[in-house]
Amino acid sequence: MSVPEPVALAADVRLSVADAPVPRTLADDVLDGLTAPFRELPPKHLYDDRGSALFAEICELPEYYPTRTERSILVAHAGDVARATGAVELVELGAGYATKTRVLLDAMAAEGTLRRFVPLDVSAITVEACSAAIATEYGTDVHGIVGDFLADLDLVPDPVGPRLVAMLGGTIGNLPPGSRRHALRRIARLLDADGRLLLGVDLVKDPAVIEAAYNDGAGVTSAFNRNVLRVVNRELGADFPVAEYEHVAFFDREREWIDIRLRATREHVVHVEALDLRVPFVAGQDLRTEISSKFTPARLRGDLAAAGLRLERLLTDPAGLFGLALCAPRE
Ligand code: SAH
Ligand code: AVI
Repeated sequence: MSVPEPVALAADVRLSVADAPVPRTLADDVLDGLTAPFRELPPKHLYDDRGSALFAEICELPEYYPTRTERSILVAHAGDVARATGAVELVELGAGYATKTRVLLDAMAAEGTLRRFVPLDVSAITVEACSAAIATEYGTDVHGIVGDFLADLDLVPDPVGPRLVAMLGGTIGNLPPGSRRHALRRIARLLDADGRLLLGVDLVKDPAVIEAAYNDGAGVTSAFNRNVLRVVNRELGADFPVAEYEHVAFFDREREWIDIRLRATREHVVHVEALDLRVPFVAGQDLRTEISSKFTPARLRGDLAAAGLRLERLLTDPAGLFGLALCAPRE
């Protein structure tokens, strides 16, 4: 019997899953968020499988300028970034389906440096999909991590050489200011002296342009927002009347963030079975589901300085809608 020749191993694909999966933190977050004087849920719960698919749809909407603008900045500058950093691995936090990421991976592959891709996301479906696809398309090692970028950065493996950490899309802006600095400080610890952070930030601009991006005509953002109630109903046996909440998104001019809420249209009591919790809502009562901070160069510099990072380059599009900050650890 002939023994088949050993085939050269294709890319090595690994998957790490954090100990505290999102459904478990959901119960604690819902208990905190629905008993606080101002009701609020952390945005990571928006991204179950359906939420991740709806977000992918948002990225294609004509009103939602961040995705296509950030992509155009990447297309213009990814080659420079790959050359300047000499990065051999890309660690992406909140990678999602890692669609725009391919522009960076292409540039690293063109430089001949690409050795490993490490996507981290709370959404298992996106980590699994992009890990498999990128290992196949690029023949590069992939170490996917299903976890929370606020809690699970210890699952990121040690660097295999100069590392580029990316957080794209403006996701850092979904954290309130103090948590944002805390997160950046933790992210900075992933970097050796030769490591760099590429941070996508949405820039302050005409409020009408920003508000349109979060109130699209097709109602996809509304469906994405209301989906979090379906998540709570399914995972915790709650009975939120999803159709009776309206999507609200407005630009808070003082704080310079988009404030995204769900507003009850009639009085009712929500029962959360898994928590044995009853929460009364009056008509017009809000539950905040997300903020999305917009940046000025000063705000960005302040946050980076507080995290021990230095802004090397701020790459923008010609209209100044979006920014990609290349950041280095401070010596
Ligand atoms: N980077 C992509 C996706 C942005 S959407 C882009 O630029 O288009 C935000 C992503 O971050 C989602 O995939 C979501 O699942 C993930 N996410 C949100 N909060 C998270 C958290 N606390 N930890 C890890 N991932 C998170
Ligand atoms: C992922 N994040 C940067 C998006 C944003 O623009 O803040 C999430 C989003 N929410 C509604 N639309 C898009």
